[in-house]
Amino acid sequence: MNAPQPVPSLLLSAAERGGPDLSIIVPTFNERDNVAELVRRVAACLPGVAWELVFVDDDSPDGTAELARQIGRVDPRVRCIQRIGRRGLASACIEGMLASNAPVLAVMDADLQHDERILPRMLLTLRQGGLDVVVGSRHAEGGGMGGFAPHRVLISRLAARLSQLVVPATLKDPMSGYFMITREAFMGCVRGLSGMGFKILVDLFASSPRPLRFAEVPYTFRDRLAGQSKLDGQVAWDYGMLLLDKLIGHLVPVRFIAFCLIGGLGVGVHLSVLGALHRGAGVDFLSAQLAATVIAMVFNFSINNLVTYRDRRLAGLRWLGGLASFGLACSVGAVANLGLASFLFDRQQGWLLAAVAGILVGAVWNYAVTSVYTWGRPRRAALARAA
Ligand code: GDD
Ligand code: MN
Repeated sequence: MNAPQPVPSLLLSAAERGGPDLSIIVPTFNERDNVAELVRRVAACLPGVAWELVFVDDDSPDGTAELARQIGRVDPRVRCIQRIGRRGLASACIEGMLASNAPVLAVMDADLQHDERILPRMLLTLRQGGLDVVVGSRHAEGGGMGGFAPHRVLISRLAARLSQLVVPATLKDPMSGYFMITREAFMGCVRGLSGMGFKILVDLFASSPRPLRFAEVPYTFRDRLAGQSKLDGQVAWDYGMLLLDKLIGHLVPVRFIAFCLIGGLGVGVHLSVLGALHRGAGVDFLSAQLAATVIAMVFNFSINNLVTYRDRRLAGLRWLGGLASFGLACSVGAVANLGLASFLFDRQQGWLLAAVAGILVGAVWNYAVTSVYTWGRPRRAALARAA
């Protein structure tokens, strides 16, 4: 008797192969008290679907990753990617999606604000409609913002309006952090993603080389089960940077734009300190100029460290080292600035052109050098816990 022929595994359905149909990606930061309940609820609402759930945890101090692994030891459908020395909701989602297997990907928050009971309907809508994306939507007919604070409803609406610069206006809830996407559509955009901030859905729509076919499934946003929101003022800045990146990022890196904006503020700080010391307190010009230079430099370094390089923020001793390398780089930048400006001025190019050219060269130098030496990734220090 002939031995049974092995069946080519790709002819089997996903469930028969043992692989998942649906990968659910859940970014977490300090969600220890929510993860077990989330897994329980997801499991309860997806009978008949072969799913896997991937937590992507940014080294939460509350031990979320360890608990997620404990759950995974009991339920092999669950696992955890623990990122060390990194922060960021969108980048966590992207890494989770890349580290998962199913042909369909879902992204949802860990805090149970996203209603898991619509997952089956989202999957069905995606498959039956031959779509690329299905969005869990608070603004589609039948959805709602639940107990969302009125000021956040307003901000969310404003942000959604702004998103129309880069996403289709017919998408009612572009700010949603709850959606499903086919792996094919995701892989089509992944190399163009900015990966900045909170708004991964906007990023996906704006990065796709072709218009994404989408639908929205309504749900009502719930209150957080436990813990606190990580949304803060920085999220608005990140969102602005994401939009800028999508609009002009192919021409100028957005970090450079942020660096220049902060440099502009630094000039304001410099002039205020100089004015207060020299004109106000009668300090001689050179001493006042020196003090203003040092203060403006510390200001520029601190704000860039907090905002432009938040994802690589330096702390403690590394903050001091960063300040020193920043100061050194900017001093060389100042020499280049003065050198070029005086060269052009001497050749009768006009003071404005000479000044602008000097400033531009100084800014590019400062940006390029500090991005490598001040905020580049030293291999040893990269294992520090991200703020
Ligand atoms: N890995 C990782 N890294 N996860 C993070 C980070 C981070 O830096 N920051 C937040 N998270 C996780 C949280 O633990 C949570 O599971 C999820 O991302 C959402 O964070 P929340 O802090 O709960 O945000 P929110 O409720 O204010 O806003 C959410 O819902 C809005 C409406 O859908 C976000 O998803 C927004 O993007 C969304 O607009
Ligand atoms: Mn939340």
